[in-house]
Amino acid sequence: MNLNNKLISVKGRERPLSKKQKQSFLSLSKYALNFSLFKDKEFFKKNKICLEIGFGSGEIIFKEAKKNPKNIYIGIEYYRRGVAQLLKKIDDHDLKNIQIFHGDAHVLLKEISNFFFDEIWIFFPDPWPKKRHEKRRFIQIASINRLYEILKPDGELYISSDDKNYISWILSVIFQSNKFEWLAESPSDWKNPYREYYGSRYEEKGMKKNRAPYFLKFKKMD
Ligand SMILES: C[S@@+](CC[C@H](N)C(=O)[O-])C[C@H]1O[C@@H](n2cnc3c(N)ncnc32)[C@H](O)[C@@H]1O
Repeated sequence: MNLNNKLISVKGRERPLSKKQKQSFLSLSKYALNFSLFKDKEFFKKNKICLEIGFGSGEIIFKEAKKNPKNIYIGIEYYRRGVAQLLKKIDDHDLKNIQIFHGDAHVLLKEISNFFFDEIWIFFPDPWPKKRHEKRRFIQIASINRLYEILKPDGELYISSDDKNYISWILSVIFQSNKFEWLAESPSDWKNPYREYYGSRYEEKGMKKNRAPYFLKFKKMD
């Protein structure tokens, strides 16, 4: 968001949905985020809850949720096309553990109770490579501070990108915040995909264009 409350972090304009995507989109009400969960402290104490911000077409959140039916997964995506694609997968596999927020992540972040999530994932956020567009980047000191608040103690933050410049930006924002520990196990750690990680569509496209992906993992500090 900028000062005029206009969403500036998403790229381009949405293409119209196909007939089938429009049909899938109709099931959003069935899988939409239940806001009353934020008030239910017992619920978030006893469940493992993961958040994916900007899930694109939802392949990672879908596979994780399918593999771990006891965990709860909340996905945020601004574009209807991606939401429709994830809804189709949820419906086809009758998954009960994904809830979707269709809209701007900045808006939802304000509503979430503190200490709610065990993990937050931001895979390949739009890099906005031009200097004059840096303010559009999702990762800013304010958003990192908010992510810190909504993570449980020892909660983990995963951020990947195939834009080296954005990676150094992310690291500098994280260090500046002084709220997260970088869990790198070796100097080449950031080149290794996360354990049991499936890969995303955006990442695949980048690799075809010889853009190497980088994987950062942080732990919330006390
Ligand atoms: C480059 S794509 C990556 C998609 C996916 N994570 C992947 O790796 O394939 C970034 C996604 O973030 C979404 N996005 C960016 N800013 C957002 C915001 N403020 N709220 C919700 N979604 C957002 C975009 O719509 C887009 O789908």
